Amino acid sequence: MSESPKETTQTPIIFAPETYQYDKYTLDESKLSSDPIEQFTGWFKEAKEDPSESIPESITFSSAELPSGRVSSRVLLFKELDSRGFTIYSNWGTSRKAQDIKSNPNAAINFFWKNLQRQVRVEGFTEYVNRETSERYFKTRPRGSKIGAWSSPQSNELKSRDELEQLIKENEKRFENVEDIPCPDYWGGLRVVPLEIEFWQGRPSRLHDRFLYRRKTENDPWEIIRLAP
Ligand SMILES: Cc1cc2nc3c(=O)[nH]c(=O)nc-3n(C[C@H](O)[C@H](O)[C@H](O)COP(=O)(O)O)c2cc1C
Repeated sequence: MSESPKETTQTPIIFAPETYQYDKYTLDESKLSSDPIEQFTGWFKEAKEDPSESIPESITFSSAELPSGRVSSRVLLFKELDSRGFTIYSNWGTSRKAQDIKSNPNAAINFFWKNLQRQVRVEGFTEYVNRETSERYFKTRPRGSKIGAWSSPQSNELKSRDELEQLIKENEKRFENVEDIPCPDYWGGLRVVPLEIEFWQGRPSRLHDRFLYRRKTENDPWEIIRLAP
């Protein structure tokens, strides 16, 4: 680790916030499924059933723009799992993640289930799901969220809140007599097809259990290795 030549010892604004031990569970080789999608399904079910995991489907989604290599991340909601991978829904017209993915299809998502002291890290490449799949999900959204998807040029600069309210009003009028609001072309699902999935179970003294499933391409079989904490 090389230090910056200009670095002097800084006075911290926040220093070593109080932390805690991870001492609830273990993850043992003998209990792992040979298929990471099956392993994930089991862990997700436990997270859903745990009343203190308030939004177990919230994830951090990271992408990186090329050629700059600048990385960005944001919280999203994971909405679907199928045998190919993990799907999220967003605006693929204007958002920052949309710009990143256009230049670089690779992405990572991260789940953290605080009470279970678990994280799952997924890395892979992305692909847009087909229209039918996006429309199927869009239909489940409340009317207000459908209007929102039509109204918000996500992550573009707004002059004021009024500008957004105006766009919403215009779309409320436009869809006034439309019961089944269609899914905008620029809105839909993006699937992360995993090449690596790590299951991390916190253990005392930071000596965690970590298992990585990895494959070179989507057509290769999964191999499982244990990682040092
Ligand atoms: C709990 C939570 C859930 C969110 N879910 C979504 C989502 O499913 N889709 C989405 O586009 N943005 C979602 N957002 C907003 C994003 O974090 C982000 O502001 C937005 O996607 C624009 O990011 P970008 O310009 O970096 O792409 C969520 C935010 C939070 C805090």
